[in-house]
Amino acid sequence: MTASATGSDKDRVLIFDTTLRDGEQCPGATMTLEEKLQVAALLDQMGVDIIEAGFPIASNGDFEAVTEIARVVKSAVVTGLARASAKDIDRAGEAVRGAQRPRIHTFLSTSPVHMKYKLQKEPDAVLEMVIASVTRARNLVDDVEWSAEDGTRTEHDFLCRCVEAAIKAGATTINIPDTVGYTTPEEYRALFQMVRQRVPDADKAVFSVHCHDDLGMAVANSLAGVQGGARQVECTINGIGERAGNASLEEIVMAIKTRGDAFPYETRIDTTQLTRASKLVSTVTSFPVQFNKAIVGRNAFAHESGIHQDGMLKHTQTYEIMTPDSVGVSKTSLVMGKHSGRNAFRSKLEEMGYRMSENAFEDAFNRFKDLADRKKHVYDEDIEALVDERIAHAHD
Ligand code: KIV
Ligand code: ZN
Repeated sequence: MTASATGSDKDRVLIFDTTLRDGEQCPGATMTLEEKLQVAALLDQMGVDIIEAGFPIASNGDFEAVTEIARVVKSAVVTGLARASAKDIDRAGEAVRGAQRPRIHTFLSTSPVHMKYKLQKEPDAVLEMVIASVTRARNLVDDVEWSAEDGTRTEHDFLCRCVEAAIKAGATTINIPDTVGYTTPEEYRALFQMVRQRVPDADKAVFSVHCHDDLGMAVANSLAGVQGGARQVECTINGIGERAGNASLEEIVMAIKTRGDAFPYETRIDTTQLTRASKLVSTVTSFPVQFNKAIVGRNAFAHESGIHQDGMLKHTQTYEIMTPDSVGVSKTSLVMGKHSGRNAFRSKLEEMGYRMSENAFEDAFNRFKDLADRKKHVYDEDIEALVDERIAHAHD
């Protein structure tokens, strides 16, 4: 989407959430229909542009979920995944039919290793299947996405031939996935530049990134793909997905929001909903969010070391590049532990309503340090107990 289309001087990047499809594909993350509807409603409300609701041919349950989500989602495009087969495509078409804005997402492997071992087909036969599948999908809906599975390990000439054929057959979005999390930022950016330069009518389609995190580079690769000209990012809440997961939606969105100098784009996401979405997905999938997860981890806005706490008390920008409320966290927490310093302890006591003489404070602080050496977590109740005891002593 161009800048002029959004009335801003920044290009819009479309956020395509696949938590309910690729995310659900990670072992153990199965969600019930009710849970999927809850997640879809929140994604729609927070401004996700495209919701991939499932893989309709995979099971009756998946078909029902995509159908229901298509029926209730108000603003977002709703899509269902389909392999390059008539049965898959027709099933996906049927599932998204009730959506305000239906899309069929069809894909086919294009890399030598996938064509040889998985599909057991020659490249020319694969090319024919690309044309047939996109044409069939376009007969059902106007909005068709085509993905070159294992695109980053695909030979460049062949990738360009497939992309060109898909666009000619009517694909409106072209996705080049890093299916196995193999690419690097430089390589992925150059891949998009190359394809968009070489393929005639490339500007008739929106290009899309879809990255897996096998080498921990899914977010960096996705952003590099955008720098190479992609304008749709496929991602999941909390980065859940096949194997090591997909690029995390919250990290992509906040990187764009926080580093507008490096990524001069915009998304439609209401970022204050990110923590809520993370908690909801974690609850319904029973997948815990790691404590130090960027943006939504429990420690993302928590500071324990004395030096950092002291800096934070003087000015929040010393150790925070985003405000907690921008992602829906009420406030920064200064965690009381053995690394905490005097200033943080004093501020904690004030916050808890305590006032005391300098001597009493020194005594309480020393006792707090002793306690913190013995205990992993020092809670407010521990501090209360320790201070009350000290005050009792003071009154002796
Ligand atoms: O990783 C992948 O290649 C996919 C496609 C089906 C888009 O998930
Ligand atoms: Zn994937």
